[in-house]
Amino acid sequence: SVTHHYTFDIRLQNVTRLCRTKSIPTVNGQFPGPKIIVREGDRIIVKVVNHIKDNVTFHWHGIRQLRSQWADGPSYVTQCPIQTGRSYVYNFTIVGQRGTLWWHAHASWLRVTLYGPLIILPKLGVSYPFPQPYKEVPIMLGEWFNADPEAVVAQALQTGAGPNVSDAYTVNGLPGPTYNCSAKDTFKLRVKPGRTYLLRIINAALNDELFFSIANHTLTVVEADANYVKPFSTSTLLVSPGQTTNVLLSAAPSVPAASAFLISASPYTTARPGTFDNTTVSALLEYQPYNKNLPLVKPTLPLFNDTQTVSNFTAKFRSLNPPVVPREVDRRFFFAVGLGTSPCPRNHTCQGPNGTKFAASINNISFVLPTTALLQAHYSMKTMGVFTTDLPYEPWHEFNYTGTLPNNTFVTFGTKTVMLPYNTSVELVMQGTSIQGAESHPLHLHGHNFYVVGQGFGNYDPENDPIRFNLVDPVQRNTVGVPSAGWVAIRFRADNPGVWLMHCHLDVHLSWGLTMAWVVNDGRLPSQKLPPPPSDLPKC
Ligand code: C2O
Repeated sequence: SVTHHYTFDIRLQNVTRLCRTKSIPTVNGQFPGPKIIVREGDRIIVKVVNHIKDNVTFHWHGIRQLRSQWADGPSYVTQCPIQTGRSYVYNFTIVGQRGTLWWHAHASWLRVTLYGPLIILPKLGVSYPFPQPYKEVPIMLGEWFNADPEAVVAQALQTGAGPNVSDAYTVNGLPGPTYNCSAKDTFKLRVKPGRTYLLRIINAALNDELFFSIANHTLTVVEADANYVKPFSTSTLLVSPGQTTNVLLSAAPSVPAASAFLISASPYTTARPGTFDNTTVSALLEYQPYNKNLPLVKPTLPLFNDTQTVSNFTAKFRSLNPPVVPREVDRRFFFAVGLGTSPCPRNHTCQGPNGTKFAASINNISFVLPTTALLQAHYSMKTMGVFTTDLPYEPWHEFNYTGTLPNNTFVTFGTKTVMLPYNTSVELVMQGTSIQGAESHPLHLHGHNFYVVGQGFGNYDPENDPIRFNLVDPVQRNTVGVPSAGWVAIRFRADNPGVWLMHCHLDVHLSWGLTMAWVVNDGRLPSQKLPPPPSDLPKC
């Protein structure tokens, strides 16, 4: 195995998109950020130096961080943020993982421009469980704001209203030809007839789940969140923010009668139209030799609210190798996840529903970030006044989650966590509610993968639904969509001591508090204990 050293200089850089030039936070002046390509077993050392005015941290999304918990990165969770002029070294080893992951800033909305692929190749001499592709291509889906995204979120939190939507979606940082003044900023995938390409698709968008399709081409899904799956073919994918999907693209045996095929992505949302950006982003698939006189072919994407397509698609994922799903469950949790509101503070005018402020919650608790890092408080056993361990295991008041709203959808604020003994096997049912412009929520768990053992529409039925759980070959992921007015059941083993955030990967919901943390206690063996913090860990 090899050690890879990187320096991430966080600095402002002028970037032009949609005919406007603006100064954005970048890593080393690059947008999107640099690719990290390593092999399973390798060590990654990234020195982050912060030259911008905002506090920043970095997260290595999907990396388990076994024995390197202090490198996970969510601000005020595993570390205090890196302040202007300061630096911090992220140092971790990739243990037992290979596939497509990514890295992103984990402070406020800075990840809108601070992100990049983190690709883990199999160990030397180990091949993929599918034919070796001719080429591998990262496809990162993102969002572009003409405004300053930090101002957008600040204003939303101030007024209590929903934030302004982005001005474009992007493919590898480029909005492409469907937007005004953008045709020259188009990502082009050039292929040779008869060859197979591995596309590593990453949804780095802030606030939208995205459909993805390539005109006239069927895609074979082979991996999800850096876990191999039983291959299946599909013409459309759904990729939620935080998720990664590897697909094989087989180019036609001879050059087809088209100049190019559009590679397109458009949002999926169950919320009311008008509350999201309904535009479509495109890139181009061009065969070599290229003939510009032939027509351009466009794919058909599902409608923005096509939940049936989403549910059929997500039900197709199965682990390739028989996984080790926890059979016995030590602790069961039922989390109602969704939006809510909070009363408008005195002397304020709030622009949320009925003059309230938008909030989001798990079992009615809207998470409040502390002013010091949870992991530090836990390690030094000074948790008083920082966090509590009384997040309810189920909602305080049960209600019909998919029916008429209860009168009061106000949330309670707090920094509440759940404490788990080392190696607890957990079953967690997450029920999406139909409150306030309900949407499906891509829930992401730090420090662990989990098995998706069941999903369904309507209210979860604890009597009958578990009978149908898939304990044989469920997909393993780190991010899963909780359907609006539906539920999803996951299992995982808490075998990673530390403090692990679990949150909705729509940044607006994260800002509104749709998050919680698991505090996993040490085990008995030295290897099962949280190591001491690195000496350069930032101070708050
Ligand atoms: Cu990809 Cu907590 O995030």
